[in-house]
Amino acid sequence: MTPSFGAGKVILLGEHAVVYGYPAIAGALPLGIYAHAEAAECCALRVPDNLDEKQSALLQQAFEKAAEFAAWPKVALRLEASLPMGAGLGSSAAVSVACAKALAAVAFAQEAHEAQLEKTNEMAWRMEQVFHGSPSGVDHSTSLRETLLWFCQGKVQTLSSPVPLNILVAMAGKRSSTQTTVAQLHTRQKKWPGHHKRLFEEMGRCTEEARGAIEEGDLPLLGELMNVNQGLLAAMQLDSEKLAQKIYRLRRAGALGAKLTGAGGDGGAVVGLFENPEGPLEALRAEGVDCFACQLAGPRAT
Ligand code: MEV
Repeated sequence: MTPSFGAGKVILLGEHAVVYGYPAIAGALPLGIYAHAEAAECCALRVPDNLDEKQSALLQQAFEKAAEFAAWPKVALRLEASLPMGAGLGSSAAVSVACAKALAAVAFAQEAHEAQLEKTNEMAWRMEQVFHGSPSGVDHSTSLRETLLWFCQGKVQTLSSPVPLNILVAMAGKRSSTQTTVAQLHTRQKKWPGHHKRLFEEMGRCTEEARGAIEEGDLPLLGELMNVNQGLLAAMQLDSEKLAQKIYRLRRAGALGAKLTGAGGDGGAVVGLFENPEGPLEALRAEGVDCFACQLAGPRAT
């Protein structure tokens, strides 16, 4: 059986604000999680050896939510990752989507494509809720659709760009879980609601404006808005020295804009927008930086 793929994701604008009902723009990565399936006596997931006890239990619990929804199809799954795990690149959503697709392929094989997609989405969403408590839904929506998305309050729209939208993603070290970072922000937001409302509203405006920039192929404006988004995330205390160093490195390498991506906090990943990321990619790799480049949207060279 061909393995089922769950794509990783990168948030270009709007992380955290999206949890409070503001829009976000996210793109799917070519890296992700593969779920290999084989017929079995009972429905099971082989938990990867490199997870600790707590992580294994969480993964098992999440899988059971999806398996229960699919009425325990007789299939055993094994996971394989081509994506850095726990770095803010949507690995839990990618696991959720890969498992959900693999279960749906057996349990709902007879159903029409749309119905199958809806059920896959529901299973991935149930798994994400186990991993993150109260996620916005942007991660698994992007992973499932494998495209550049506008996401707001559970609604999605595909975005297209008339020009290639190239990014470079660099790792900025270990970080706390998304759930922890989201909860810490929530505590601050409850303490100072007015101040956070202003920050979220401004981030929402940036995301709206960025949508227009993407659709018109205005990369300098998009980069500028990503930088402003980073400033707002920093004002929400979601950045760190490790993240800031990498962000400044990407800007020095010629990024039109650069920011943390995903939950941020003490580490994770940063994203830079480039007209051509090949040179910077080589330079950063030569310095030992763990990074990769990819295209999120727009015409591709043949
Ligand atoms: C995590 O990739 C994105 C956050 O906005 C959380 C969420 O949307 O659920 C930080």
